[in-house]
Amino acid sequence: MPPIAKPQLSRFASDTARGLASEKQKSIPSRYFYDELGSVLFEAITLLPEYGLTRADERVLQTHSRELPKFIQDPIAVAELGSGSGRKTRSILEALRAQPNDFSYVPIDVSSSALASCSKELGDLASVEPICADWQEGLAQFAELRRGSRPVLLLFLGSSIGNLERKCIPEFLRGIRACLRPGDFFLIGADLVKDVSTMLLAYDDPTGVTAAFNLNVLGRVNRELGAEFDLRTFAHEVRWNQAEGRIEMHLKCCGDQHVYIAALDETIAFRAGETIWTESSHKFTTVELDDYARASGFASVTNWVDAEWPFAEALWRVDATTATARPRSQRKDLSRSSTTR
Ligand code: AVJ
Repeated sequence: MPPIAKPQLSRFASDTARGLASEKQKSIPSRYFYDELGSVLFEAITLLPEYGLTRADERVLQTHSRELPKFIQDPIAVAELGSGSGRKTRSILEALRAQPNDFSYVPIDVSSSALASCSKELGDLASVEPICADWQEGLAQFAELRRGSRPVLLLFLGSSIGNLERKCIPEFLRGIRACLRPGDFFLIGADLVKDVSTMLLAYDDPTGVTAAFNLNVLGRVNRELGAEFDLRTFAHEVRWNQAEGRIEMHLKCCGDQHVYIAALDETIAFRAGETIWTESSHKFTTVELDDYARASGFASVTNWVDAEWPFAEALWRVDATTATARPRSQRKDLSRSSTTR
């Protein structure tokens, strides 16, 4: 009899299986927060008085976007990693509209509903040409499609970079650089280090919205992977990790228990007090951001910092002197010898 093939697990299932299998520290990647409910809960977080990050991001762009035409002239496109709410992007598109030629706005996101709402939101300002793909894949597609010599402005707002481990950041940025050309610009938003009590409160609001956002990832495991987590037996926990310069969110298990996950056909053991690590939000300094620019083939042009809530919008130019690889999709010489497609 032929062996019975194990059904192919979804990426969510296999990532969850791997994260919960660890003896040392269980984890679930933070990208899985954002199902339909999680996305709404995140929107609610951005309205919390304790979570100043999003308002700071918007304020800096409101204040400084009008300076963009000084640096970037006659762009062919504004592309954005993660389609955002449109609110932040609006001031950028408005500032660039004063230029003689039209440009397109290219949001890149895995969520087609996010892309749809952002097309609706910004369609009056530019022709919207969404790409439904993850960041790397979407940016490579965009690089392949662009024509002519006019520059591109790429946006990566909201301190999404903060979810990456510091040691992964240079490689991630070099991947972005490889999809851009000399003369292009990159605008990246990053939350800055501030006093510890302010940072802790931003992730542990007394209303409990962030706790709900955190717990919802177990709700999602229940809904999509047929797990039997009792959400009431896990508690939202927030830590400031001084050595790593980051806020960590965990879900702390309140008592010894076993949890069955149907999609994995596995039972996971939890000890009282043990945690599932669900997110890291790294906090930066502007000096550190300048270093990342240099290390990844960009030249730092300026840092705009909010006066109320330390948050930076870093504008980088693609450095012509740095020789970097072209995106994989453009390397004709390699495409024939590459392994799989
Ligand atoms: C959207 C990743 C920037 O890390 O601050 C908000 C997500 N997590 N509250 C962040 C989040 C908890 C947020 N980012």
